Amino acid sequence: MRLDDAGFDHAGFDDAVARVYWARLEDRHDGLLALLDAVERERHARYRRPADADRFLLGAAMVRALAGARLGCPPAAVTVDRRCDDCGKPHGKPRLPGAGLEVSVSHSGDLVGVACHPGAAVGLDVEQLDHRFDVDGLAATVLAPQEIASLAATAPADRLAGFLRYWTRKEALVKATGDGLRADLRSLVVTGPAEPPAVLASGHGELTLYDLTAAPGHLGALAMLRAAPVRVEELPATGLLRSTR
Ligand SMILES: CC(C)(COP(=O)(O)OP(=O)(O)OC[C@H]1O[C@@H](n2cnc3c(N)ncnc32)[C@H](O)[C@@H]1OP(=O)(O)O)[C@@H](O)C(=O)NCCC(=O)NCCS
Repeated sequence: MRLDDAGFDHAGFDDAVARVYWARLEDRHDGLLALLDAVERERHARYRRPADADRFLLGAAMVRALAGARLGCPPAAVTVDRRCDDCGKPHGKPRLPGAGLEVSVSHSGDLVGVACHPGAAVGLDVEQLDHRFDVDGLAATVLAPQEIASLAATAPADRLAGFLRYWTRKEALVKATGDGLRADLRSLVVTGPAEPPAVLASGHGELTLYDLTAAPGHLGALAMLRAAPVRVEELPATGLLRSTR
C-alpha cells in the first residue's frame, strides 16, 4: 500500500477489499468543477439548491478521482457513462467503461459517499437519521410482512434507526444490481437491524451485504454482486479530493 502526502493510496485497488470514501459538503472546492464533463456540468448547473449541486459535484469528482487513479490518467479525462436504463438520461448508475472499476454513489445530509471495487458491482446507500421520516408509511411500501412485524416489536426510540437499517441494506442491494427503486423492495428480504447484515431472499444468487459506520447521525450499507466476502474499508475522502487539486 502506498499512501501519498494527502493520504490517498493510489495503488490501493485490491480484489479482497471494497473501499468507501466519505466526503463532507465542506470538502467541496471550486476546482472540482473543472473535473466534470459537459453532461455533468449541465446537470450540476440545473440543481436549484446549492447543497444538491454540491452533493452531486462531490460524488462525480470522487468517481473521477478514483477512476483516474485506476487508469493512470487525469480525472477529467475519464469517460463516465451515466445513462439511465429506464429513459437514457444521464442520471443512472455511473459506469466506467474500460476502467475495471465498479463504483456506487450515495448522498444524504452533508455526507457524500463513493464505494469502489475492482471487479464486482457495488451498491452504496447512506441515510441521515431524520426524524421527519414517516416510518410507518414507508415501512408498508418497502418492508416484507416479517420485517414489518420485527420492526413493530422494536422499542419506539429505536424504530427510526431500525427502519433505516432495513432501508439502507435494501437500497444498497438494488443499487448493486442497478435496478434501483424499480425493484419491489417488499420481496427483497434482509435480516433485521439487531442481526448481522445478510440477504434472506432476493432473486439474485450472489449478493453480499455489509453495514457501514458512515458518520454520526447517519446509517449506511454496502452491497456487492459477489459471493466471496471482502474486507470493507471506510476512509475520509479528504486525501482523494486533495489529489485532484
Ligand atoms: C438509485 C436510487 C435508488 C437512488 O436513490 P436516492 O436515495 O435518491 O439517492 P442516493 O443518494 O442514495 O443515490 C443517488 C445516486 O445513485 C446513483 N444511481 C442512479 N440510478 C441508479 C441505479 N439504477 N442503480 C444504482 N445507482 C444508481 C447515481 O450515482 C446517483 O448519484 P448522482 O445523483 O450524484 O448521480 C433511485 O434514484 C432510483 O431507483 N433510480 C432509478 C429509477 C428511477 O428513478 N427512474 C426514474 C428516472 S427515469
